Amino acid sequence: MDLGLNGKIALTTASSKGLGFASALELAREGANVILSARREDELIEASKRIKNETNSDVFWHKVDLTDLNSIKKLFEWIEKNIGTLDILVYSTGGPRPGNFFDLSINDFEKACKLLALSAIETSRRASSFMIKKGWGRIILIGSISLLKPLNRLALSNIMRTPIIGLTRTLAVELAPYNITVNAVLPGTILTDRVRNLAENIAERENITLDEAVKKIAESPMKRVGLPEELATVIAFLASEKASYITGTLIPVDGGASLL
Ligand SMILES: NC(=O)c1ccc[n+]([C@@H]2O[C@H](COP(=O)([O-])OP(=O)(O)OC[C@H]3O[C@@H](n4cnc5c(N)ncnc54)[C@H](OP(=O)(O)O)[C@@H]3O)[C@@H](O)[C@H]2O)c1
Repeated sequence: MDLGLNGKIALTTASSKGLGFASALELAREGANVILSARREDELIEASKRIKNETNSDVFWHKVDLTDLNSIKKLFEWIEKNIGTLDILVYSTGGPRPGNFFDLSINDFEKACKLLALSAIETSRRASSFMIKKGWGRIILIGSISLLKPLNRLALSNIMRTPIIGLTRTLAVELAPYNITVNAVLPGTILTDRVRNLAENIAERENITLDEAVKKIAESPMKRVGLPEELATVIAFLASEKASYITGTLIPVDGGASLL
């Protein structure tokens, strides 16, 4: 199936690694030109080399700290000046501090608000201004299944990501007249570096193999964790011409974990 992504310009945030990187790679495989963004320059250079080696797409990168509104503003000013247009936003961000509600201070909640909520609002707001001008666009927000059920020791994710729901639905309605769709994908446990590190810690602590530790983490009916490309292909589809009548949805990609 031709997704019609050839030549589209996609901004992927938090994309030097993990889910953001997998999404950028998949979009580039489908012919989109991608802009990577994260905080560390060396990781961005490495990630853009990997995508360039594997695809024929143009790959750009620019540093951003999503907890800093001024840094987000500078990223979009750079896009305006150097690229001049934007068709697709895939929003991901860093992971919040783990902990149950009473382990966390109000300061932790304030920081998580910037990382998980304000950054999603500001990147969507700035990205949609390019798309409104074009009369076409796709916004895909990466959330978590914590939006469907509270996850143990992830109070910040359970609480501070909830604006993603309102943002997705509100923008879907307000941007529909401009031919812009807005959807959220909600990953369960997907095997990125972050999850691999967690598994390594469990393996060491419990004296079991890495494979056994990964299986332990996989709380889904499928009894396995997901792979980054299993999320990225859903994102590429939502970003495509083919997904033109899907908007305002929250799509779990979790092997059924949110049903347990
Ligand atoms: N993997 C899962 O199973 C899973 C499940 C549900 C939800 N999630 C959520 O999905 C998001 C991505 O997770 P992941 O597993 O892909 O994480 P990851 O492998 O640790 O990658 C995180 C990426 O985000 C960037 N980043 C971190 N903080 C940032 C900031 N303040 N500003 C800009 N970029 C930042 C990192 O680069 P720099 O450090 O250089 O900035 C890196 O590129 C997280 O919010 C996570 O909680 C993940």
